[in-house]
Amino acid sequence: MVATKLVMNNQIPRVFKNLDPETQQLAQAICGHKVNGINVHLKHLAENLRRSEMIIWVTKRLISDEALGVNWEHLLEDITEQCLKPFHEETYRHLKRMHQIVAEQLKLLEHQKPEQLDDFGCEDFRTMHHFELTPEDQQNLKWAAAFHDLGRMCYPVSFWNTPGRFSQKQREQLEFHARNFYFLGEMLNVCQEVIALSVLHHYPNKGYPDNGIIAKLRPFLDQPKFQYMLKWLVTNDVYGGATDKRSYRDQIWTHEQVIQQTMPVEMARVGLGWVPFIQALKQSGQRVVCPA
Ligand SMILES: [Fe+2]
Ligand SMILES: [Fe+2]
Repeated sequence: MVATKLVMNNQIPRVFKNLDPETQQLAQAICGHKVNGINVHLKHLAENLRRSEMIIWVTKRLISDEALGVNWEHLLEDITEQCLKPFHEETYRHLKRMHQIVAEQLKLLEHQKPEQLDDFGCEDFRTMHHFELTPEDQQNLKWAAAFHDLGRMCYPVSFWNTPGRFSQKQREQLEFHARNFYFLGEMLNVCQEVIALSVLHHYPNKGYPDNGIIAKLRPFLDQPKFQYMLKWLVTNDVYGGATDKRSYRDQIWTHEQVIQQTMPVEMARVGLGWVPFIQALKQSGQRVVCPA
């Protein structure tokens, strides 16, 4: 099976040796080359990405300084179906649900401006400056919701399937799934805003250290509109994480429990101003918000 969907993006060749050294290592590993000094996370990611013939095909083109010839959205969709689904169906379902939730929220806002929504008791909602998102911003928010956790393939599947709560060591390791999206994104020439949203999706509520990758994305973090989009994504992600079924957690939280107990703790650094978007969706009867 070889890619046939040729579109506007990714028609321009790039110089492989100009890419980040870790992106080059990831690409070499995907092509089955022996890569000295590659870290264990990139190694797992490469092994999982090798499930897709299309990814191997475009990566070979990248290494040869040829245009990828396939748009990045199509490549990430292929990774989701061919690599993520067999690797960890729980994460696959989470991404599908996140995409649906954001799509439904944006649909809701086609008819109602944020300032017309009920604040559901979140006082800071009224004080938030609501931005007009361009159609491109909206599409990027949806793509980020659909793909932000693809970096979860940088661990062995046992990392996600270990029953019981995460250990302290596992919690520390978690940063890498977000960070490694950067190399995947650069390799496939993903839109920068989608890369930034995906890499930073734990940053506002977990406060990961400002490593080299976050420093590269600092200009995004300085933009108020980007912060708005990121916090929107993170709010949904916290909510989705708490209400999804997870093998490493024995409890499934209800919508009310999450809103009243989980969100105030998890969102301490983000603020609860985005919760009304979830509440409004719930009120509109969207089962995707709380499928249980
Ligand atoms: Fe994540
Ligand atoms: Fe997530």
